[in-house]
Amino acid sequence: MIKTIAVIEGDDAAPEAMRPVVQLLDSLNMGLEWTYPEVGEVAEERTGSAFPPAAKAMIDRADSTFFGSTSGKTGVALNYLRWGKETYANVRPCRYLPGCASPLAQPDGIDFVIVRENLEDLYVGVEGPLEDLAPLNLTGRTIRKPVHQVGEGRFAIKAITREGTERVVRFAFELARKRNGKRKLTCATKHNMLRGTDGFFLEVASGLAADYPDVAFESFIIDDFACRMIREPQKYDVVVMPNQYGDILSDAAGGLVGSLGLAASGCFGDDYAYFEPAHGTAPDIAGRNIINPTAAMLSATMMLDYLGFEAQARQIEAAVARVYAEGVALTPDQGGEASTTAFCAAVGRAL
Ligand code: IPM
Ligand code: MG
Repeated sequence: MIKTIAVIEGDDAAPEAMRPVVQLLDSLNMGLEWTYPEVGEVAEERTGSAFPPAAKAMIDRADSTFFGSTSGKTGVALNYLRWGKETYANVRPCRYLPGCASPLAQPDGIDFVIVRENLEDLYVGVEGPLEDLAPLNLTGRTIRKPVHQVGEGRFAIKAITREGTERVVRFAFELARKRNGKRKLTCATKHNMLRGTDGFFLEVASGLAADYPDVAFESFIIDDFACRMIREPQKYDVVVMPNQYGDILSDAAGGLVGSLGLAASGCFGDDYAYFEPAHGTAPDIAGRNIINPTAAMLSATMMLDYLGFEAQARQIEAAVARVYAEGVALTPDQGGEASTTAFCAAVGRAL
């Protein structure tokens, strides 16, 4: 079984995390082929476009894409991977590995997954000056004047659709079925204030619960959930939420177990999925070979699962867990002194 993976290494320090992970996967000889779409500044200089058709074709031909973090021009490729490929379910696991530098006194047993709706909400990207809304003469539930008369300012559209919500919530229910254990889905929204949008998300989610009687369904207001996620993270299994809350809380969840360097991520659509560490490009440590590659490595194991290499995915996860448990080859964000490549070499030995 040969599978092709398009690799976009990303910007700043991101390639330093991506390269040794690709090398490690490659060394396992499981039949992976790597292609490297040219995107961003290099592509722009050579072809005049930061995302030329050849790069798009390479992503389309590949079985999946492995994406490092973007700070700038590689962002067009990210837009394509999300909105172009309709990868609507962003899966962000939060699992404590003993040995990680969690700030919590009792992090043992943290193992939940945020499923972030990945395409809608405020991220549809429709923004503009408030005065453009004058023809609509919109009044809100709280302010006392039509919104275009409030003063100079901007608006953003928060769009929550039935189809977009249904598919991500179904995905989250299915994930709760597949994960061994709690079979619980938690929905987090600001439905008390944003009744029309988040209220709709919750209404659609609650409506689907009847189709999954074997999964316990519960819902919290998002700000309350943020507190619960930190106070008692062990209680959660799969948590589904609209895009922006998922963006914010998944970074917070990374901090809960140790650092953003641990936060893996995969974006799933009906016929494509791509994988990316959730950390940013860490420009402050670029070029120093100290970025924590765990997020990239665990994103890669999610990709292996998706491509049908479950056994290898479990082996790599176990090797990563062992390196943390031993605690001798950890990167500086985890209190160690190892370089990125030394950490990966330790995982390779543990394999
Ligand atoms: C993430 C990132 C992205 C997002 C940025 C880079 C556009 O923060 O994957 O969480 O907002 O989704
Ligand atoms: Mg983010």
